[in-house]
Formats: sequence, C-alpha cells, structure tokens
Amino acid sequence: MLLTALSGLALANDALEQPLAAGGDAQRGRAVFVDREQGHCVICHALGSVAPAGNVGPALDQVGARLTAAQLRQRIVDITQVKPDAAMPAFYRREGLNRVAATHAGKTLLDARQVEDLVAFLAAQR
Ligand code: HEC
Repeated sequence: MLLTALSGLALANDALEQPLAAGGDAQRGRAVFVDREQGHCVICHALGSVAPAGNVGPALDQVGARLTAAQLRQRIVDITQVKPDAAMPAFYRREGLNRVAATHAGKTLLDARQVEDLVAFLAAQR
C-alpha cells in the first residue's frame, strides 16, 4: 500500500516544467558540474571526458536524449520526488515549496541560475 502510494507520488513529480530562472547557459553549466565550489557533480557521475571517474550515480552521457529539460530540472532540484531513496543530494529543495510562504528560510545548495545552467548543459548531452 505504502509502496503504491509512493510510486504514485513519484510519477506525479517526475518533471518540473517551470524554469527557476531565465537564460540557462550550457557553458556555465559545465563549470557548475565540475567545480568543487559549485555542484561538483563529478564526484558521483561520469560524463565523457568532462568527468571520467564518478561511479556512485549513473553515467550522464546521452542524458539529454533520455530525459526532458523538465525531468532534468526535477532531478537536480530534488531527486527524492522521483526516487524517495535516491543517494543524491537535493540541490534546490526549499521548505514549503508548494505553499505560499512569506519567507524562504532555507538556503539551497545551488541557486536558481546554477540549476538552470545545469539543465542547459545536461539537455545538450545527446
Ligand atoms: C552523492 C552522489 C551524487 C551527487 C553529488 C550527484 N548525484 Fe546525481 N545521482 C546520484 C545517484 C545515486 C543517482 C541515481 C538515483 C536513482 O536512480 O536511484 C543520480 C541520478 C541523477 C540524474 C538522473 C539520471 C538518470 O539517467 O536517470 C541526474 C540528471 C543527475 N543525477 C544529475 C546530477 C547533477 C547535475 C549533480 C550535481 C549538481 C548530481 N547529479 C550530483 C548521485 C549523485
């Protein structure tokens, strides 16, 4: 029963259509992907010559052919909405995301522009 409920939820939250910011840029996204001070996605993900080593998560070659921009965005923002037990940090999870809150107290691991730069970068991997 619980599993059924969870997978229903996962399907409902598979994609996040609304961009968090305008003007996502693939070149900046590449930097966010590799930089230690930014996303540092390379510690877990391989991606061609950009990231030869990471093997905690799946290799992201061709990921832009497998997933839409909206699906990529959801996985970067909060992959637990797709897979509740995923061993990947939620990079843009905010408390009360779906509520109208006067303040957003929580700080996110990446900012909105960094998320959109990553979406542009990964969408181009095909
Ligand atoms: C601590 C390790 C870790 C880090 C850091 C990490 N990921 Fe992941 N990522 C994973 C794992 C594990 C999965 C697979 C989750 C699952 O399906 O259970 C995953 C899945 C994904 C997926 C879905 C891939 C697919 O084919 O379904 C994308 C896209 C992704 N990560 C992007 C990123 C980006 C971009 C960053 C950096 C901002 C990042 N990840 C940082 C571990 C990580």
